[in-house]
Amino acid sequence: MKGVVLAGGTGSRLFPLTKVTNKHLLPVGQAPMIWHPLWKLKEAGIEEILIVTGTEHMGDVVGLMGSGKDFGCRFTYKVQDEAGGIAQALGLAENFAGGSPICVILGDNICQDSLKGEVQAYERQGRGARILLKPVEDPQRYGVAEVKDGRVLGIEEKPKVPKSNLSVTGIYFYDAAVFDIIRTVKPSGRGEMEITDVNNAYIARGELAFGTFQGWWTDAGTFPSLAHANALALQEPVPFPGANGRK
Ligand code: G1P
Repeated sequence: MKGVVLAGGTGSRLFPLTKVTNKHLLPVGQAPMIWHPLWKLKEAGIEEILIVTGTEHMGDVVGLMGSGKDFGCRFTYKVQDEAGGIAQALGLAENFAGGSPICVILGDNICQDSLKGEVQAYERQGRGARILLKPVEDPQRYGVAEVKDGRVLGIEEKPKVPKSNLSVTGIYFYDAAVFDIIRTVKPSGRGEMEITDVNNAYIARGELAFGTFQGWWTDAGTFPSLAHANALALQEPVPFPGANGRK
């Protein structure tokens, strides 16, 4: 399995912190934000990783992480020319994936659990998609899953009246069909190609399974969630060499 970290977008909800840098380079705990999802992939045994980011800060992203040698990984980089949404960014991973299954993580998602068990569960699943759900207090901010009898009936992106408190976290497993699905996705009301539309397409095919997080999970794309992510991440530093105040 290969890994994909999506680290594009304008970071507008964190302005002015993101005026001169990429959201995913901001500090979370003792490391740049993006190192947390990278560590989750590495911890799960995924070392072949594509990083997608915008044109403006690609130089800084590459300068920070290089080839991946220092991380025990192999990094590939791809530019997303405009901030057209998560599904659009993922579409750029087709050649990199080369038909392999992929684990996709949004660069601002920070979680406690190891993804090893979920990687194994997806390997047993063998095809389709797998998402990870987590109950939250403010589901309006997320993709929200309606679950019945152990199946996801549908996902709504940022619903005003959520059908559950189960947020769809930014960690997804897909087979190679994801790229054909992405080609059918149209921009949403907010002008973005939504990952929720991709996941709903898998539901329509009867091929979407889900797991749940036991430990904490948060994104870090707003001021309150960034502060929360910082507090959580300080308790569990990423163990990459060069992290945590060591040069
Ligand atoms: C994105 C997805 C949303 C998901 C969230 C998790 O939201 O669109 O479905 O629940 O990531 O972090 P965004 O960060 O674009 O608001």
